[in-house]
Amino acid sequence: MQGEADVRPDDERPLSGLAFAVAGAGRVGASLARWAVAGGARLARVAVHRRRDRAEELVGDCAGAGNGAEIVPFDALASGDLDLLLVAVADPALDAVAGRLAERPQAAVVLHTAGARGASALAPVAANGSAAGTLHPLKAFPHVLADPAEARGVTFAVDGDEAACRLAERLARTWGGVPQRVPEAQRDLYHLAATLAAGGVVTMLTAAERVAGTAGLDPHVLGGYLELARGAVAGAGEALADQGSFASAITGPAARGDGDTVMRQLAALEAVSPALADLAAGVARQALAAIATAGRASDSHRQLLARLEARERASAGRPG
Ligand SMILES: NC(=O)c1ccc[n+]([C@@H]2O[C@H](COP(=O)([O-])OP(=O)(O)OC[C@H]3O[C@@H](n4cnc5c(N)ncnc54)[C@H](OP(=O)(O)O)[C@@H]3O)[C@@H](O)[C@H]2O)c1
Repeated sequence: MQGEADVRPDDERPLSGLAFAVAGAGRVGASLARWAVAGGARLARVAVHRRRDRAEELVGDCAGAGNGAEIVPFDALASGDLDLLLVAVADPALDAVAGRLAERPQAAVVLHTAGARGASALAPVAANGSAAGTLHPLKAFPHVLADPAEARGVTFAVDGDEAACRLAERLARTWGGVPQRVPEAQRDLYHLAATLAAGGVVTMLTAAERVAGTAGLDPHVLGGYLELARGAVAGAGEALADQGSFASAITGPAARGDGDTVMRQLAALEAVSPALADLAAGVARQALAAIATAGRASDSHRQLLARLEARERASAGRPG
């Protein structure tokens, strides 16, 4: 039943008629629930673990659109009368939560949001007749992202029973996202690649920060490195659009095959931080590998690779 306050036409409410519950009103659960409600779905129930305030905020924000949602403890959550149960709990809790949810009837479709796990994490609820699947937003949620526009262009990794995949794909498309089937067997490496693309990029910035620190540079230079990184990521986006790969956007002396500069800089860093020098050498090797895979390796790239391999052999022999 729709609320009186919600008078938008049906074409602005593509999820109209969908009733759902959310288990876990954290950053992801509270964001996706808001996006679903913005699409016309009805939030019926929110299960809380410890932070009732988060659930109250979510229910308060969704009120006025026919969403007088009930807040219940996890061990009382039943959603057998609903179309969807969205499970967005901390990864270490997922297996135990799935077992506890299976003690009561659950929704026709149950989706979890963990990137590294397949639909089998929900096996206990699937055994009770729910279609189980995943809806993993390939996006960082540093906090609740209330605006559904945040979903535009985001890839959502979908997996599981067919009915679950279909609903997950419908949600992703409604939000302007891009559903992508990622089967269970690929999940570990899918998630590792995501970690490299997000936390890995930021970790490289922290490495740049440490190298700049060892050189005694003014900390204001960090803003310059951030701007440089923004430009590099923008270039990677253009390379992907043009050539279907990031590789041609790699810049720097290794990408140019300038072996003398690479080896001189590594020696300078090695003198102050052998660990950072090993990291930088590994990054240079990865750049060369990507260039070779793209079929663009020249003699100077190959010579640099040989020098890096020789350095690695020498490093392996140095005292730890
Ligand atoms: N954050 C991201 O960038 C991101 C991106 C994509 C996918 N994900 C995935 O989305 C899921 C949720 O992540 P999140 O970032 O939203 O985490 P979060 O903000 O820390 O929220 C975690 C939720 O899990 C609940 N919870 C924790 N332990 C529990 C337990 N033992 N039993 C029941 N509920 C429990 C918490 O309840 P209380 O608050 O009451 O303790 C909270 O509602 C995870 O699978 C994560 O991998 C996260």
